[in-house]
Amino acid sequence: MKVRKAVIPAAGLGTRMLPATKTVPKEMLPLVDKPVIQYIIEEAVASGIEDILVVTNRAKSAMDDYFDYYPELEDRLLSSGKEDLAGVVRGVADMANIFYVRQKATQGLGHAIGRARRFVGDEPFAVLLGDDIMMSEKPVLRQLIEVSEKYKSSVVGVQQVSDEAITSYSSVRMTNVEGRVYEVSDVNEKPTQEEKFSNFAILGRYVLSPRIFDILDHTAPGHNGEIQLTDGLAELARTGRMMAVDFEGRRYDTGNLKGFLEATIDFALKDPQTGPWLGGFIKDKAKLL
Ligand code: G1P
Repeated sequence: MKVRKAVIPAAGLGTRMLPATKTVPKEMLPLVDKPVIQYIIEEAVASGIEDILVVTNRAKSAMDDYFDYYPELEDRLLSSGKEDLAGVVRGVADMANIFYVRQKATQGLGHAIGRARRFVGDEPFAVLLGDDIMMSEKPVLRQLIEVSEKYKSSVVGVQQVSDEAITSYSSVRMTNVEGRVYEVSDVNEKPTQEEKFSNFAILGRYVLSPRIFDILDHTAPGHNGEIQLTDGLAELARTGRMMAVDFEGRRYDTGNLKGFLEATIDFALKDPQTGPWLGGFIKDKAKLL
């Protein structure tokens, strides 16, 4: 079945990026000249997604304003001859059909995904975590969707991380099927070195069977006392087919300062408007270090 819908959980408090995120949602922080969430939505649209549900909370209304029309601003830009910019501003609002639901209490990623049940209905759907920004030739979500369509299964996007890093992610027990595709038998959240299944971590992209909703309904709180999506995925993998794809591309965790700065530099270097200038600026700085 075609994957047409995506869910973006964006109800976190952004505590790793304070004080900037005290009043600005972390998803709205600018990466070069666009808010972080726009990169996520662009990846979803480029992967063939038509309808997107953003799971928000009471402090995130700047996000729904951003994807709305802004007639006063557009009129002002048009009347001052800035048609291009008016087109850019309008284009943001026309990118996709975006829906919103609020997670009324912060009870974890699994609980946030559970809020999407009515929106998703009975079809496979994608999940894109708002902090994980990808730079790739082929959109990372598209890579997962192709595997999901071929194997008629759920799929998680994975990459190998260091021993130190795996304890901050979910680790995956899996066996190779072909090329970059694996079959998953188990996953666990924030494992210790003794508990980890491998150094392959799930990094923010999923295609899931709607069976996950029944599973999340009875998933007990796990790590941090929160309902963990990973605990639901473990049951999904044990009771049905789940594949993993070791995706091609670089992933940035923009939810912390280091990842955010790395993404800012790499995306600005890639952008034809800022790249040549920034490259020269960095070379000059490097001489002084
Ligand atoms: C979340 C997930 C975790 C995943 C990680 C990176 O963790 O719970 O399984 O590996 O994102 O995508 P968080 O970054 O919210 O601690």
